[in-house]
Amino acid sequence: MNVSLITGATSGIGESLARGLAERKHNLLLVARNEQKLQQLCRHLSGKNGIVAQYIAADLSQPGAAEQVFEESLKRRLVVNLLVNNAAIGSSGEFAKNDLHGDLKMLQLNNDSLVTLCRLFLPEMIGRRNGSIVNVGSLASFFPSPYMAVYAASKMFVRSFTQSLTEEYKPYGVHVMLFCPGLTTTNFMSTTANDNDWGKILVKGAYTQTSDQVALEMIQALDRKKTIHISGKRNALLVKMGSLFSYAMITKIFAERKRKQMGFAVSNQ
Ligand SMILES: NC(=O)c1ccc[n+]([C@@H]2O[C@H](COP(=O)([O-])OP(=O)(O)OC[C@H]3O[C@@H](n4cnc5c(N)ncnc54)[C@H](OP(=O)(O)O)[C@@H]3O)[C@@H](O)[C@H]2O)c1
Repeated sequence: MNVSLITGATSGIGESLARGLAERKHNLLLVARNEQKLQQLCRHLSGKNGIVAQYIAADLSQPGAAEQVFEESLKRRLVVNLLVNNAAIGSSGEFAKNDLHGDLKMLQLNNDSLVTLCRLFLPEMIGRRNGSIVNVGSLASFFPSPYMAVYAASKMFVRSFTQSLTEEYKPYGVHVMLFCPGLTTTNFMSTTANDNDWGKILVKGAYTQTSDQVALEMIQALDRKKTIHISGKRNALLVKMGSLFSYAMITKIFAERKRKQMGFAVSNQ
């Protein structure tokens, strides 16, 4: 059976995408940690849309979890013709004060598992000369972000990696797209590592989309076989304007602005 695999499908953009693809009659393989939510969502989407929605509960911040997802898909004889690497977390604050273990787990989720899933599912797509991969980046894929340093670096990795794959696998008929949301109303900023004063100033008064708007843009970008899409016209314009300046200048402006908003002064504490 052909399926679309979405990681991080129990909330936010991933959940909206699951609903949107189900309406378009995609059979689904949903991955996230919360088994109860996965079960409820699959039951709801199958009943409502007459599709087969199934799930694998997995913590992709654990080494080996992405491989287990792949093995399980083989066991179930599923053909993944759309892979959406959407699951990711962020962390806000001063790098040297943040939880190192948490940041390393973030890299495992945002980068290692994404690379692993691409590596494991690509050969079959190449063999069939068909298939699509969407890797979810961020506006942070385009600019270093002081006080969100590790997350932004993880998303820059996603951009570089994905744009390379796009060109490598074009000759095989496999479509690889980098999809970059801007600020979106989801649970993303409420997770422990983001829910602090540094996180709050990022979202204050900022242009924000809903997860349904973002998911719809992703589906439309997939239909048009785009290789890169920044969701929200205002976000796309911001990236274009940002490209006119050096990384060093933008990074300095970001850092100074955030420090000012925080009333931040360097102390020996
Ligand atoms: N929201 C924004 O402002 C924003 C901006 C730019 C980019 N993005 C990107 O958009 C994507 C989706 O984020 P979102 O905003 O929709 O966030 P979200 O509402 O927090 O959803 C994150 C999803 O990932 C899953 N997840 C988290 N940790 C996981 C783990 N260790 N293993 C497996 N699944 C895990 C969560 O489910 P469980 O808790 O059930 O595991 C949830 O389904 C991410 O790549 C994010 O970087 C978001």
